[in-house]
Amino acid sequence: MKANLKLIGGLPRAEKSPKVLDLTAVSKVFPISGGFFTAFENLTFSARTGEFLAVTGPSGCGKSTLLKIIAGFLKADAGKVLISGSPVKGPGADRCMVFQEDALFPWLTVEENVAFGLFRRGLVKKKIKERVAHFLELVGLAPFGRYLPGEISGGMRQRVALARVLVLEPLVLLMDEPFASLDMQTRQEMQDLTVSLWKELDQTIVFVTHDVVEACSLADRVLIMKGAPGRIQDDIPVNLPRPRSVDSPALLRLKAKIRQKLATGL
Ligand SMILES: Nc1ncnc2c1ncn2[C@@H]1O[C@H](COP(=O)(O)OP(=O)(O)OP(=O)(O)O)[C@@H](O)[C@H]1O
Ligand SMILES: [Mg+2]
Repeated sequence: MKANLKLIGGLPRAEKSPKVLDLTAVSKVFPISGGFFTAFENLTFSARTGEFLAVTGPSGCGKSTLLKIIAGFLKADAGKVLISGSPVKGPGADRCMVFQEDALFPWLTVEENVAFGLFRRGLVKKKIKERVAHFLELVGLAPFGRYLPGEISGGMRQRVALARVLVLEPLVLLMDEPFASLDMQTRQEMQDLTVSLWKELDQTIVFVTHDVVEACSLADRVLIMKGAPGRIQDDIPVNLPRPRSVDSPALLRLKAKIRQKLATGL
């Protein structure tokens, strides 16, 4: 259970929870006109159950491609990608992805959008109703179940997008710059919500962001990538107690360190 993995009195959680995600020497090459393009090569890292991992790096270093490979939407050209010890062969119920653009169905209500994946899994109606209500409550949208996506704000749509994947209870939640298009205040609210949901549920999160402060304030570890081709430059633990203040000297020091690494590639 998560309870014995999480921060206890602000101390880092136990390091020895099982590896849920394990990548070894993973490379991706795209065919392009007249040849091949290596998006990244030789990526090796792992994440343990309940870990919150941020991935940052310059545009084009392969962050989105990496998430798509973990999600099973793309195939790696070399290396091993394991989820709970089994090779990834395609998309699966154990992994879900949240994108920057909420990909809600505009013709379905908020409730129907959240229920969609559960219907596809063949759950009975009563169970679906209960689970949808629970997750709408968790993301603070209980009163908006009957609204259409076009009738709610961008921040609320991202909450629906989050509820829609959380309701499927994936082992690994993949988030690709999910809050990048939101205004500062909504973004902060979504970050707080993400951390509180992560504390409550049993997911491992891989969160791609360009925003170093976002990475430092959310994650247990920050993977820094550099390009091109993409590689892992560094893997930095964030040993800061939660809740974190973005103005705390320790977080500001960490931000400066990561920014310098990004700027120098060293
Ligand atoms: N389907 C594709 N065919 C050819 N090249 C691709 C394809 N998808 C991605 N690439 C290339 O692979 C590299 C990595 O792309 P990716 O989108 O993963 O980068 P990223 O780190 O997510 O960038 P950003 O921060 O801008 O989102 C880029 O150079 C991109 O042009
Ligand atoms: Mg990207």
